[in-house]
Amino acid sequence: MITTARRPLIVGNWKMHKTRQEALDFLEGLIPLIHPSMPEIYLALPYTLLYPISSSYANSGITFGAQNLNEHGEGPFTGEISASMLKDAGASFVLIGHSERRRHYQESNELISKKIHRALMAGVTPILCVGESDEERKTQLSYDIVTSQLDQALSKVSAEEIKQVIIAYEPVWAIGTHQPASPSIAEEMHQLCRHYLALRYSHAIAQGIRILYGGSVRAENASKMMEEENVDGLLIGNASLVLSSFEKIINYSTPHLAS
Ligand code: PGA
Repeated sequence: MITTARRPLIVGNWKMHKTRQEALDFLEGLIPLIHPSMPEIYLALPYTLLYPISSSYANSGITFGAQNLNEHGEGPFTGEISASMLKDAGASFVLIGHSERRRHYQESNELISKKIHRALMAGVTPILCVGESDEERKTQLSYDIVTSQLDQALSKVSAEEIKQVIIAYEPVWAIGTHQPASPSIAEEMHQLCRHYLALRYSHAIAQGIRILYGGSVRAENASKMMEEENVDGLLIGNASLVLSSFEKIINYSTPHLAS
């Protein structure tokens, strides 16, 4: 029996929400609630909040990161933000390849691969998001799509580097729809991802990589998801914006606090 040390992780993705004051109000409420038996907590902030929040709450037990980065190191790319700028502003991780970026900004797997490379070079943990659309699921393409997303996005990632990467399985049909994947679908797709990682790298490496589920996670379904063997954490959009719902999710393992 292989023992693993995949510490449970809850990531809030604030997307394009919250001013500085709104973020401060949220964190002032959240921080007193944190206790050592909780999962690790990450918050993916809008760029404008990164420096003020990460510097004010450096020892809070919360890890702060960003939602995107540019694939170049630096240069004439008006409006863009590089990996080293993220690092400098206090980001420890960055979401890469979220389905909203794939869809609204036409991000290809090739571009995503470059972004992963930049994040790794800067020492910022990439959280690679993969997941099939509704249409792809209905036409039995879920396995092919997710495998090819992993294959292309990780094409230049070495066995040493992959240990720094977190994977998030986020079926597009479940994001913001109130229609989460069932825990068994999530488990099946996470097994697929882990199997891919084992073949591509090694069994031992695959066992150490955290794979998160994202898509309409709420207090009501968080603990059932987390019971699945290959679900190591959750990526939360909507329910991370309101303290009362986020609090219930981070308390998923202590039901009397989560209810
Ligand atoms: P949701 O978003 O929790 O609102 O479905 C998840 C995500 O986009 O990461």
